Amino acid sequence: MEKQCVVLVTGAGGDAQGWGNMQVTESVREAIIANGYDCRIVLAENREEMEKGVKSGPCSIVWSCLYFFSDREDIIGIPPDAVWVADVLDELKIPYIGPSAQTMKNLIGKFDTHEILAKANVSVPRHVLCPPATADDIDYFPAFVKPNGESRSVGINENSVVENREALEKQIRFIQEELQQSALVEEYLPGNEYTVMVIGNGSKREILPGRVTVDPKHYGKFPVLRSDLRGVGLTHVSIPEEHQEEAVALANAACDALKCDDHVRIDMREGKDGKLRIMEVNGIPGLKPVKSWSPQIYSLYHPEGDTYTALIGTIVRCALERANG
Ligand SMILES: Nc1ncnc2c1ncn2[C@@H]1O[C@H](COP(=O)(O)OP(=O)(O)OP(=O)(O)O)[C@@H](O)[C@H]1O
Ligand SMILES: [Mg+2]
Repeated sequence: MEKQCVVLVTGAGGDAQGWGNMQVTESVREAIIANGYDCRIVLAENREEMEKGVKSGPCSIVWSCLYFFSDREDIIGIPPDAVWVADVLDELKIPYIGPSAQTMKNLIGKFDTHEILAKANVSVPRHVLCPPATADDIDYFPAFVKPNGESRSVGINENSVVENREALEKQIRFIQEELQQSALVEEYLPGNEYTVMVIGNGSKREILPGRVTVDPKHYGKFPVLRSDLRGVGLTHVSIPEEHQEEAVALANAACDALKCDDHVRIDMREGKDGKLRIMEVNGIPGLKPVKSWSPQIYSLYHPEGDTYTALIGTIVRCALERANG
């Protein structure tokens, strides 16, 4: 039987939007090949280039590192006229790894994610989107101000925690002007931080919680994973000693409510009451070997052999099973 071929799609926004840069995409490709599949990389700047690349050879399934086409390498940004990769693939009737087009859109806007989860009674922090709201509409302090649609802690620093209206107004303006998007104002979650990877579907869905820590000497006034603490080897992930069952239940409910497929990673933190709240669901989690949280967590729970190859193989196998019915 001919080998199945996975087509990896990436482009300028690979690092800001997706699992990482071209080097990471090469690692994903090597791991896919080590699992006995064929694999091609398509580098695309727009819909036409992707379509041409995907159609230029064998393709059993696409795995995109991009939510949508963009020439920005620094931020996600989400232009209103964005062409979403999953929309194009749906139109072409080509199966893909990861959540559906609608779920991808729901995940990239954190406000939308929160609204869907809240409706399904899954715990999220209080949240208000500015605009349409303004600082005057917020009556909870301390609050946490972040861009509605970024990743890698872009736009998150010491000033993200605001304790009064003046600081809140200033930080909302910073997000709107510097990152050209709405500011999401959440209730500040003061407790410990968790990140939970979810791989597989249906009865084979596996939920693996991780506890994220940073040496407290790197924190300022608040224990927040600022952008300068990310991607530089300062965060540590371990199997949690507390909140295991709570994290699994929350992640399960969130994946059901949002209809997540194949692989997502869910960030959570303890609120004032000590209970977990979901901060966000990552639709294209980072896949940097060793460095990204999903590969790290996977190797904690599945320490045997080449853990990166095993992780990538599991995601591809589950997705092919789902796509082929
Ligand atoms: N409501 C909150 N209260 C306290 N800290 C928060 C809150 N929201 C976010 N943070 C802090 O900011 C960090 C980044 O936030 P979040 O996970 O929402 O954004 P991100 O940049 O999309 O992350 P990722 O790179 O995982 O996609 C969190 O890991 C956490 O440390
Ligand atoms: Mg996060």
